[in-house]
Amino acid sequence: VRMILMGPPGAGKGTQAPRIKDKFNCCHLATGDMLRSQVAKKTPLGKEAKKIMDQGGLVSDEIVIGMIKEELENNKECRGGFILDGFPRTVVQAERLDGMLKERDQKLQHAVELQIDDSLLVARITGRLVHPASGRTYHSTFNPPKDRMKDDVTGEPLIQRSDDNPDALRKRLVTYHKQTAPVVGYYKNSGIWKGVDASQEPGQVWKDLLKVFDKKA
Ligand code: AP5
Ligand code: ZN
Repeated sequence: VRMILMGPPGAGKGTQAPRIKDKFNCCHLATGDMLRSQVAKKTPLGKEAKKIMDQGGLVSDEIVIGMIKEELENNKECRGGFILDGFPRTVVQAERLDGMLKERDQKLQHAVELQIDDSLLVARITGRLVHPASGRTYHSTFNPPKDRMKDDVTGEPLIQRSDDNPDALRKRLVTYHKQTAPVVGYYKNSGIWKGVDASQEPGQVWKDLLKVFDKKA
């Protein structure tokens, strides 16, 4: 499959994408995860990106486009297709993605928007717990780990993202509505847009996603 998964912070992109990846045997490319790995390694790019991410702004188009291009060209998992999570986030990024795919004689098949009201996102974001190495995500109330603050698979500690606080979330939402909402319009115009109600419990969201692909669980 070749698709993008869109939606505001906390909509469930990172929760649903691994299920799609398993179902279709494709790669899951999340620009936020890639940037956080640069931050963790304290690279020059990571240091620059951290400031922007903690303020809820967007990292430059050139940087994220470069990261996606590199993965699509070199990541073997992407030979079976891809799910892009958190990219494209600006119309410029969407246009450049089209260009990249055109060069490879490929086209996007689905642009899925996880739709949810802003008022539900504070609880999701402030309760999120992450296993940094794998990107596995939990929630203190909605999806608690078996052992408090430990990853179910590795037993390693879980952390809170530094941008997961009410203040940074407010800014991320402003950025989303200003810069990323137009990307939804871009895909509506191109005819591959579909919306899924992301306020439902994760299992139901997954069922509705499968309908988008005409697949059964
Ligand atoms: P990014 O990492 O992409 O963050 P985001 O878009 O804000 O999205 P989140 O990861 O917060 O939400 P999610 O939808 O993945 O939710 P999740 O499934 O984890 O980007 C971070 C930053 O990097 C950006 O702000 C920007 O600065 C920069 N950046 C990234 N990409 C960029 C780009 N292309 N261009 C420029 N800059 C870029 O779920 C959240 C919580 O809710 C979890 O705890 C989960 O367990 C729980 N949950 C999930 N689904 C449900 C459900 N159905 N019911 C109840 N709880 C649920
Ligand atoms: Zn995410």
